[in-house]
Amino acid sequence: MAERTLVLIKPDAVRRGLVGEIISRLERKGLGIDALVLRTMDAELADAHYAEHVERPFYPPLKQFMTSGPLVAAIVTGDEAIAVVRTLVGATDGRAAAAGTIRGDLSLSNRENLVHASDSTESAEREIKLWFPDLV
Ligand code: CMP
Repeated sequence: MAERTLVLIKPDAVRRGLVGEIISRLERKGLGIDALVLRTMDAELADAHYAEHVERPFYPPLKQFMTSGPLVAAIVTGDEAIAVVRTLVGATDGRAAAAGTIRGDLSLSNRENLVHASDSTESAEREIKLWFPDLV
């Protein structure tokens, strides 16, 4: 089933010059890019985007990291795009993520893990509304 999902190419990826590599992996898989923007997350957007994590102990440093510089937000589309992108991205902790995945190949961290991808239809729609309010 055709789906859309929200992908954030995080500030570590922008700083490391990996935006093209990450978009290229998504495109080579056959996924489409419906919208793309370079933007710096502010505190309010961080709290809304990560609403389910704000009480977690790892949230303050995560927020600091996610607001530390520009990131790339994208709406990615394709057949079963939500699950397909999560598979391409790999496990949260880059040290444990499988080789061949974006995090497994390119990250050594469970915070600075290069990419965020929506984990369900509900979160995809919620996150797309947050990042692209004019498109929905
Ligand atoms: P993301 O897919 O953006 O969703 C939540 C983010 O929190 C996750 O990627 C990581 O960047 C971060 N995260 C999750 N678990 C931890 C943890 N145990 N320690 C530090 N950061 C974490």
